[in-house]
Amino acid sequence: MDNKHTYLLNFKDYNFEFPLVDADFLENLDDFEIRDDDVFIITYPKSGTIWTQQILSLIYFEGHRNRTEDMATLDRIPFLEYNIRKTDFLNRPSPRLFCSHLPYYLVPKGLKNKKAKIIYVYRNPKDVMTSFFHFSNMVVALEAANDMEHFMKRFLDGNVVGSRWFDHVRGWYEHRHDFSILFMMYEEMKKDLRSSVLKISRFLEKELSEEDVEAIVKQSTFQNMKSDPKANYDEILKYEIGKRTDEGHFLRKGTVGDWKHHLTVEQNERFDKIFQRNMKDLPLKFIWDLNEE
Ligand code: A3P
Repeated sequence: MDNKHTYLLNFKDYNFEFPLVDADFLENLDDFEIRDDDVFIITYPKSGTIWTQQILSLIYFEGHRNRTEDMATLDRIPFLEYNIRKTDFLNRPSPRLFCSHLPYYLVPKGLKNKKAKIIYVYRNPKDVMTSFFHFSNMVVALEAANDMEHFMKRFLDGNVVGSRWFDHVRGWYEHRHDFSILFMMYEEMKKDLRSSVLKISRFLEKELSEEDVEAIVKQSTFQNMKSDPKANYDEILKYEIGKRTDEGHFLRKGTVGDWKHHLTVEQNERFDKIFQRNMKDLPLKFIWDLNEE
């Protein structure tokens, strides 16, 4: 355990968000009891976590779909390692839904019996970095960066929450056979939300009527989430996590290819070289721009 940084807590070679994590919980994470019907959303930060939380919450809770229940998504699907609302995980009714940014080697070992399910969402890392850059400048618990050059260096070196993006994605992909896991791509979700919802619900073995699917797709579009106080996290950011200014939102742009507005040609080429070096032998598909296909 190493917290040489005010913002990061390094535990077993992985950086956690120091102000929000409970170090004692991490020490016992390996033995955290997993139930067969637990479901985990796992992501590297800024890859579509709250979007997938919204989709899962709508799949599982009729009261969310038909808007009869007024409950924050974070209470339905809390973060495992950032339990900011002190949810009592042990006494939650099944099926328990969680989300997490953990790398494959730190998740509770009970996940390896392949009963509990994992949905791993990944996003092209240039958009992840762009989203992360803005988010870091907005949230008090994260270290701000003067400009993209500073942030890019930090991101590529893994001196951010989540450590190196390459290690996170590669680690989960290479160890996919140890888990019951579905890989979802942010850009595919963006391209075809309906098919993505169906793919997720099939994996979770949840039967949905046509009407349910319509309600889920409708309530998980960027525009609808942005204007829905329960889905947009504006209040949580402001009052529970803390913002530096009144500017900015969790749901910032929600697009594919915003990196083009933030990286110089030279930065982009440098990024490409590092990406190639780290990912060339990994058969995962990436989409950098929705016009490219
Ligand atoms: P941007 O900053 O690029 O807009 P996470 O939840 O993992 O922190 O990811 C946040 C990113 O997902 C933000 O990206 C946010 O706008 C985007 N996002 C959240 N909900 C979305 C939705 N319904 N459709 C598309 N993108 C969404």
